[in-house]
Amino acid sequence: MKKITIAVDGFSSTGKSTLAKQLAKALGYVYVDTGAMYRAITLFAMQEGFISEKSEDIRSLVETLSTIDLKFKYNEALGFSEMYLNGKNVEKEIRSLEVSKNVSRIAELEEVRKKLVNLQKVMGKEKGIVMDGRDIGTVVFPDAELKIFMTASPEKRAYRRYKELLDRGDKVVYEDILENVQKRDYIDSHREFSPLKKADDAIEFDNSDMGLKEQFERIHNYALRVIEKE
Ligand code: DC
Repeated sequence: MKKITIAVDGFSSTGKSTLAKQLAKALGYVYVDTGAMYRAITLFAMQEGFISEKSEDIRSLVETLSTIDLKFKYNEALGFSEMYLNGKNVEKEIRSLEVSKNVSRIAELEEVRKKLVNLQKVMGKEKGIVMDGRDIGTVVFPDAELKIFMTASPEKRAYRRYKELLDRGDKVVYEDILENVQKRDYIDSHREFSPLKKADDAIEFDNSDMGLKEQFERIHNYALRVIEKE
């Protein structure tokens, strides 16, 4: 059967990665979490002291971008790929609230977007890929055969993220998360380069009141129909 490209875009914490992972597994496709790439560059900028709550030195970050090596390595036990920054597994660190607070500032830099979009295009050259992010259906793969745009209310999304961080042992306050979700929505959809927006040919999917199983079944069936037609 012919392989296709599936782009999953949408606001933060809409469950894009859960859905994209499930779809990739069911179809035998590769899954790529592009948010992890923006998060890894943000972590690098924080570790190097290029960005903090009080200051930023974007120029130094841009000058050292070529030294940053990003790789996904498949973890057999977990069943998905983990992010490596310059050879080190950073999967846990990139999911912290600190990184979430800084990532939109990094993701709006043109040079960062250029570097990551190029890498993403190479990863998807062979098709048979499910990629999630913000600009996959609009910029990275405008010709993707299936584009899904996910939405849910900010409160529902903040609550999901809050539970996720609590479950992994982080001490967090719901109101801080909600504020972070709303701030990121604003920056992500108003930035100059590749703002978050639904591609004209994407299917919009609001999962505010939908369980994971129902959501997966509906989209999986739809994907199978698209693949059959190819
Ligand atoms: O999906 P996520 O929450 O892990 O993404 C982290 C941030 O990276 C998010 O605030 C927006 C940005 N991002 C982006 O600008 N473009 C992408 N393709 C993926 C993520």
